[in-house]
Parts: sequence; structure tokens; C-alpha cells
Amino acid sequence: MILIAAADRNWGIGLNNELLTHIPADQKFFRETTTGNVVVMGRRTLESLPKGEPLKNRINIVLTGNPAFKKEGVTVVHSIEELLKEIEKYPGDSVFCIGGAKVYKELLPYCDKALITRIDEEYEADVFLPDLDALSEWSIAEESEEQTYFDLVYHFVTYKKENNNGDLTT
Ligand SMILES: NC(=O)c1ccc[n+]([C@@H]2O[C@H](COP(=O)([O-])OP(=O)(O)OC[C@H]3O[C@@H](n4cnc5c(N)ncnc54)[C@H](OP(=O)(O)O)[C@@H]3O)[C@@H](O)[C@H]2O)c1
Repeated sequence: MILIAAADRNWGIGLNNELLTHIPADQKFFRETTTGNVVVMGRRTLESLPKGEPLKNRINIVLTGNPAFKKEGVTVVHSIEELLKEIEKYPGDSVFCIGGAKVYKELLPYCDKALITRIDEEYEADVFLPDLDALSEWSIAEESEEQTYFDLVYHFVTYKKENNNGDLTT
């Protein structure tokens, strides 16, 4: 599974169930990377999407503890175990964990790659990603050149998780 997120300097990712900022090139990167693939998200992130609707042209899997939750176009799962069973149907590199904070934290052990748009700003935030730079098993495999959007500076950073032998997983 691949984690995909946009995070600020403090690994902040959202405030009041919304994103911190909208960068068109980042939205395009997210759309192009995930289209035709599987996206896994928490119920709160689904609600934060425009009109609370699932993402088009992608298989949407939503985690919730609510047994009555139903939504057209969404595969609902109620536990990590049920999710892991559901995604066995798909190749690992076609399944993207798209948040939010609770789901990133829970699924990090099952991800071997993380595509992070790292925004060089400090926003007010109430939800955060784990600091991948502080986790010894994660390291930067690739980093884009500096990108700008008006006065915002950001980078596309690919992190990979090392397996127990110290080799980079693919
Ligand atoms: N910057 C980014 O890239 C990015 C990406 C995505 C989201 N975000 C931001 O993140 C924030 C939302 O994150 P969040 O942490 O509040 O919510 P979340 O992770 O999107 O959703 C949490 C909900 O998912 C369900 N859930 C999670 N783990 C579960 C499990 N093991 N079993 C059953 N259900 C489970 C629960 O739903 P129920 O309450 O229904 O039981 C839980 O309340 C928003 O601000 C959003 O904008 C940012």
C-alpha cells in the first residue's frame, strides 16, 4: 500500500476537517496518481470531500465503525482486518491510503512507500501525519526540485520503508 498526503513543515495535514491549503499542481498529482486505482480513507475524510462524494474513476474504500453506514459508490469496511482482506484483491502498488490522520497512523505499518507533498509553511493544524524523518525505517528515496505556487514553496518527496534486512522495499 502507498500512502499519499500533503503535509506542512510540522507534518500538519488538516484543520476543522479540511485541508490546510489547495495547490493546483498537487491536486493534479494526486488525481493522476490515484485515478484508475484504489483509494482507502476514513469516514471523516470522505465527508471532507466535495459534497461528501467518493472520488471519481477510483475504487473508494471507506473505514467506519458504524455498522449502518452506506454510501453509493463506496465499499465500506469496519476494521483494519476487514480492510486488509478487501485489498487482497488488488496489487499492493495500486492501493493508496489517502487519509486522514487516524487512518494514516493505523495503516502506516502496512505501507511501504509514501508520496508526500511537503509544503514549506507552518499552518494552524489539528491533525498530523507521523514524522517520517524521525522514523528509522523510513527514508527519502527521491525529492523533486523546489516547486512554487505564488509565494508557497513545496517539494514532492518519495519516502520508502526499509525492510528488516536494511534493503529498500520496492
Ligand atoms: N493533507 C492531506 O493529504 C490530507 C488527506 C486526507 C485527509 N486530510 C485531513 O485529515 C482530517 C481528517 O482526519 P481524521 O483523523 O479526523 O479522520 P479520518 O482518518 O479521515 O477518519 C477517521 C474515521 O475513520 C473511521 N476509522 C478509522 N479507523 C478505523 C478502524 N480501524 N475501524 C473502523 N473505523 C475506522 C472512523 O469512522 P467512524 O467515526 O464513522 O467510526 C473514524 O472516526 C481532515 O482535516 C482532512 O482534511 C488531509
